[in-house]
Amino acid sequence: MNENEVARSLDGKNILVTGGTGSFGGQIVRELQRYCPASIHILSRDEKKQYDMQLEYADCPNLRFVIGDVRDFERLREAFRGIDLVYHAAALKQVPNCEDSPFEAVLTNIVGAENVRRAALDAGVSAVVSISTDKAVKPVNVMGMSKALQERAMLSRPVMNRQTKFVCVRYGNVLGSRGSVVPMFRKQVFAGQPLTITHPEMTRFLLTLHQAVELVFWATVYGEDGDLWVRKMPAARITDLARVLARGLTGKEDYPQINTGTRPGEKLHEVLVSEEEMWRAKEHDGHFLIPAWFKLEGMDGPTSGAAAEYTSNSTELLSDDELEGLLESDGWFEIKSIHSRYKLVA
Ligand SMILES: NC(=O)c1ccc[n+]([C@@H]2O[C@H](COP(=O)([O-])OP(=O)(O)OC[C@H]3O[C@@H](n4cnc5c(N)ncnc54)[C@H](OP(=O)(O)O)[C@@H]3O)[C@@H](O)[C@H]2O)c1
Repeated sequence: MNENEVARSLDGKNILVTGGTGSFGGQIVRELQRYCPASIHILSRDEKKQYDMQLEYADCPNLRFVIGDVRDFERLREAFRGIDLVYHAAALKQVPNCEDSPFEAVLTNIVGAENVRRAALDAGVSAVVSISTDKAVKPVNVMGMSKALQERAMLSRPVMNRQTKFVCVRYGNVLGSRGSVVPMFRKQVFAGQPLTITHPEMTRFLLTLHQAVELVFWATVYGEDGDLWVRKMPAARITDLARVLARGLTGKEDYPQINTGTRPGEKLHEVLVSEEEMWRAKEHDGHFLIPAWFKLEGMDGPTSGAAAEYTSNSTELLSDDELEGLLESDGWFEIKSIHSRYKLVA
């Protein structure tokens, strides 16, 4: 992607990141510093995470911290005044928590998204880019179901001409984000425990936080109202990921693993583009673009058979060497610095 185009989209803009203290939020705030936005507003609930981030960015005068909850429409309306661009990353994203408290997921992931949409329209924000997940495709758990409705709320048919464009992006597992398997496997290695694998055949799409931010910048530059962008990405067997990580940390080829069984709401393989979406998706430079339904008025459905869906067991599976390279480049073999790099998410 052309850096100048990204710079043109961000320079001089007032940008707000909901969930700006999270894994993704922390990374996008770091990367936004490369450009020259007029201001970056970080909206989230917990003041301790905001305080830690204030210390980290003590010498960045363009950062503003806003305590707020996406469930609170009035607070969003106030916070969005004067904002040009919103990145909506606030979410409940842990599958087991959402299973235990489904309505909390409804309130944050669906009502929260609808509040963001309405507040953005109200405040005349130019663009909202909302972050979604492969778990929203053919969802089998509450988290995925709530994120599927989040996508639909964001990309719903406009009731009148509007100046705000709404774009979604969807991606797979981010290496090392809060609650993900890589930090868990590292902890298990350092505690001398076996690595817990739910199912030996399980595969997941994998990307780094930097690649997630790249996709979001892509959608900022090229996204039009009603677009959902998916980046093509490789996947890995979780058991291979665990083995390569443990080998890099301990030098042992056969670090022990135990199978704990698939958890409720967990799929063996994830889907990034379903067959229902594939017939209307367009491929564009390593990405799929899935237009919202309202943009397809009058278009016929699939004419011949179902198009193949894009799944974590049908995409390229990373080899051991590629996994090692990915973990290495993302700093997961470093012993000391990892906690400071990820202190906001540890
Ligand atoms: N991590 C992944 O592997 C992955 C993969 C695909 C998609 N995604 C999507 O990417 C987005 C960001 O995920 P992440 O990994 O950065 O999650 P995260 O590390 O858990 O961060 C979530 C952020 O949202 C904030 N938040 C939660 N509830 C909120 C509420 N009601 N109001 C305002 N802020 C709230 C949290 O701060 P407070 O708790 O202080 O409010 C935190 O800043 C999510 O939409 C997620 O679904 C993540």
